[in-house]
Amino acid sequence: LFFDPTLIVTSVPALFSGWLMSLGLVIISFPLAIPLGLIWSFLRMAKHRLPRALGATYINIVRGTPLFLQLYIAFFGLPLMGVQMDPFMMGAIVLIMNSSAYLAEIFRAGIQSINKGQSEAARSLGMSGMQTMFFVIIPQTVRRVIPTMTSEFILMYKDTSLLAAVGVMELMMYAKTITAATGNVTPYIVAAGFYLIVTIPMTKFINSMEARMAHGHRK
Ligand code: ARG
Repeated sequence: LFFDPTLIVTSVPALFSGWLMSLGLVIISFPLAIPLGLIWSFLRMAKHRLPRALGATYINIVRGTPLFLQLYIAFFGLPLMGVQMDPFMMGAIVLIMNSSAYLAEIFRAGIQSINKGQSEAARSLGMSGMQTMFFVIIPQTVRRVIPTMTSEFILMYKDTSLLAAVGVMELMMYAKTITAATGNVTPYIVAAGFYLIVTIPMTKFINSMEARMAHGHRK
């Protein structure tokens, strides 16, 4: 039997611990990617050329290369240079660095979508550039970027599965191991269920949030 219902029951405990690992990876990495993403987006939007080039370079390199390759550099390239690290830590660092580049563009789009009249009004009321940013632009940006940030969270959660290829014991790795031992696809199907338990409610949340914004008390 290539699909064995009894394996559903027997594989769940192992897959569950893999799921906790995957979940732990995003829960730790995503919040840390946010401040880093903010830094890149501010650099990217800076007045001066040097910080702007720095931000753009980082964002373009990270977004322009596969996450899979970035993982290989970290897990197989760095050790050649004598850099050793716990796989969970290393995985988290790569996810944080990768996601921060995508988040930076989400933040930039959000900030730049705020009507120019808003900052002109704030400035004419005597607010400084900084005050305008923190008290006028950012609060409005936050509501606007929550749906896209949530989909970025979902992407990172699914991207944790790539860590199976570099030896992190997360959900996908457990499924692979059980399938290798039993010659049965069932663990993969159960793993799909574990991913969906998180992604479906979050997708619903994004949809309802977007519907509410479209009805728009505020645009
Ligand atoms: N599969 C893509 C890659 O290999 C995922 C990158 C992450 N994408 C994202 N929006 N966070 O690069």
